[in-house]
Amino acid sequence: MLTNICNLFTFLLASSCPATIIDCPIKLFFTIDTSETIALQESPPGSLVESIKEFMKIFAQKLEDEEYRGQIQITWSFGGLHFSQKQVLFSQFTTRQSFIRNLSQIKYLGKGTYIDCALTNMTRQMTYSGKQAVLFSVVITDGHVTGSPCGGIKVAGDRARDQGIHMFSVAASTSIDELGMMEIASSPTEVYRDDYIVMEIVNGRPRMNTETIDHVCLIQCLFLKGPDGLPGDPGDSGLSGKKGEKV
Ligand SMILES: *[C@@H]1O[C@H](CO)[C@@H](O)[C@H](O)[C@H]1NC(C)=O
Ligand SMILES: *[C@@H]1O[C@H](CO)[C@@H](O)[C@H](O)[C@H]1NC(C)=O
Repeated sequence: MLTNICNLFTFLLASSCPATIIDCPIKLFFTIDTSETIALQESPPGSLVESIKEFMKIFAQKLEDEEYRGQIQITWSFGGLHFSQKQVLFSQFTTRQSFIRNLSQIKYLGKGTYIDCALTNMTRQMTYSGKQAVLFSVVITDGHVTGSPCGGIKVAGDRARDQGIHMFSVAASTSIDELGMMEIASSPTEVYRDDYIVMEIVNGRPRMNTETIDHVCLIQCLFLKGPDGLPGDPGDSGLSGKKGEKV
């Protein structure tokens, strides 16, 4: 896990050369369902897809590059595909600006839904470049499929997880197949599924759920930084340090 590698480097370097900054790249990939059930869910047709595009834009804008404790430089790159039965890569991994620019190209595809194939393609896009990074995928769908030619959601999802991809499962709207949503999410599902939603209905009107963006962004940052450790028991003495290396 790269997080641990970063922590380890920080630990090792803190004693010898504290001025060194470790690069900690994070790749975030959006996997977006633009099949018929999503496209026709709200009127006019395609309006839910437009809401999802706005959701992704706000999401990407919230994730800032930052330096942590003067030792780790966090850099985000963004990419995404949208899918129905086929997949369309609208953005390879790139900067926030280029990613947001390419969101405008997404037009709903209609037709059926193969979530398993979309997850397979997402896994390929996220792992084919050899550069190490922390990998997150946000999957926005209604969890409803019309077929499973790529082995099913569970199998495709497990393959992605085996490659170290952390998958958040976000409902496009209130009309979902929760079983499909749960199969996408990484474990624990309380963290990676947790009723995330793009558009909810409040007082009979659709409303974008920006709390989902805040929540997922926060989890990603916590995941990377790790929670602060608890203070030690004053009675305990610390572990003895590692032996130094000869120079
Ligand atoms: C993934 O989608 C792209 C289109 O963006 C397509 O060219 C490619 O064949 C797909 N790859 C897989 C493994 O399905
Ligand atoms: C953005 O879209 C254009 C047009 O499809 C494409 O040529 C370009 O490679 C895309 N940018 C990225 C970063 O994928």
